[in-house]
Amino acid sequence: MKLIIRRVADEPNAIMYIRGFNYTPELDERKVLMTATPLLFKKYPELQTRVPWIKLGNFPTPVEEMKNLENALKHSSLWIKRDDLSGEKYGGNKIRKLEFILADLLRKKKKWIMTFGGLGSNHGLATAIYAREHGIKTILRLIDQPVTEHVQKQLLRFHHFEAKMSYAKNAPEALLKGLWHLASKRGVYSFYGPGGSNKIGNLGFVEAALELANQVELGMMPKPEQIFVPIGSMGTYAGLTVGLKLAGMETNLIGVRVTDIGMTNEIKTAKMINKTFKYLGEQSDNISQVLVSPEEVDINHDFVGPCYGAVTKDALDAIQLIRASEGIHLDTTYSGKALACMLKHIQEGRSSKGPILFWNTYSSADLNALDIKYEDYKQLPKSFHQFFHEDLISHH
Ligand SMILES: Cc1ncc(COP(=O)(O)O)c(C=O)c1O
Repeated sequence: MKLIIRRVADEPNAIMYIRGFNYTPELDERKVLMTATPLLFKKYPELQTRVPWIKLGNFPTPVEEMKNLENALKHSSLWIKRDDLSGEKYGGNKIRKLEFILADLLRKKKKWIMTFGGLGSNHGLATAIYAREHGIKTILRLIDQPVTEHVQKQLLRFHHFEAKMSYAKNAPEALLKGLWHLASKRGVYSFYGPGGSNKIGNLGFVEAALELANQVELGMMPKPEQIFVPIGSMGTYAGLTVGLKLAGMETNLIGVRVTDIGMTNEIKTAKMINKTFKYLGEQSDNISQVLVSPEEVDINHDFVGPCYGAVTKDALDAIQLIRASEGIHLDTTYSGKALACMLKHIQEGRSSKGPILFWNTYSSADLNALDIKYEDYKQLPKSFHQFFHEDLISHH
């Protein structure tokens, strides 16, 4: 694996950043890769003054062929989108949304951000890290999920990055507390839903789809016939759908559901896609909204297990296989389940014979160097101490 960093001639402030694919002289000729401007603004320059955006991540993330997995599964074209490498401090899918959300906050001169998630929320952590860097304080409203070692680590990390943490047993309780907070304090910005999924946050994945289409156009990977991605608060899937349409790239996007069906389903996802498209259409006369119906949304419901955050055997097997074959580390709540779905499809001959892309949404940034000790849990609000009894851990 090689890492190449160089400047793009016609954009002096932009750094080209290629990781994870072999450099060839032909590639040198191509005006690829990272620029200081999102592709969305290049395609529709009028958006630049209307849509808030700040740079947080390292984009584009690489696309790589998984040759060892191809051999193991006897498939000729399996690819991975390395969003795990999207940020130095913390990567994964959430940083893409935060590039738009935090910019919106800064533009509105907000000092606080309030968001929701499970006890082990990756979105919560990404928000705490990147908001703090921009002088914005984070309030996390955290909801029950099965307690694993990962969940404990996340709780300690929220505290480490100075997020204000509040525990709720379930989503309605979290929402109620949030609304009360909003009414009583000025200057708080809230997403009306967890995961940073709203018409602004989702633009991160509109951009991601344009990025992928650009990589395909440049010959870095063949056009995928299928893309597998986890679907939770739906913003990743919604943004990708809009972006793929804007790019004119036809592919079968499969969202692998990891949360309750009441929260994540075809009807809600179609609504979110249409809201995101509508917002873009309102910002640019050159974007005409394409309405998407629930029937066009492809969600697989078979891999969630008994509840959100449950550790399933399918996910553990998938995680083990990709770690052994490709050295990629996934999580049990999201990415492991999406990969499990993709593997089952291939093994059972239900998948495309053509190129398949696994979109890795889980950060691989190493957080072990942080100065965090297990005993630090005593500094957390009392309502979180219950999650630090040793016998609670069901999975290591
Ligand atoms: C690692 C990971 N993958 C996928 C998702 C799901 O993305 P979305 O909530 O946009 O559907 C999340 C959301 O928290 C996540 O943390």
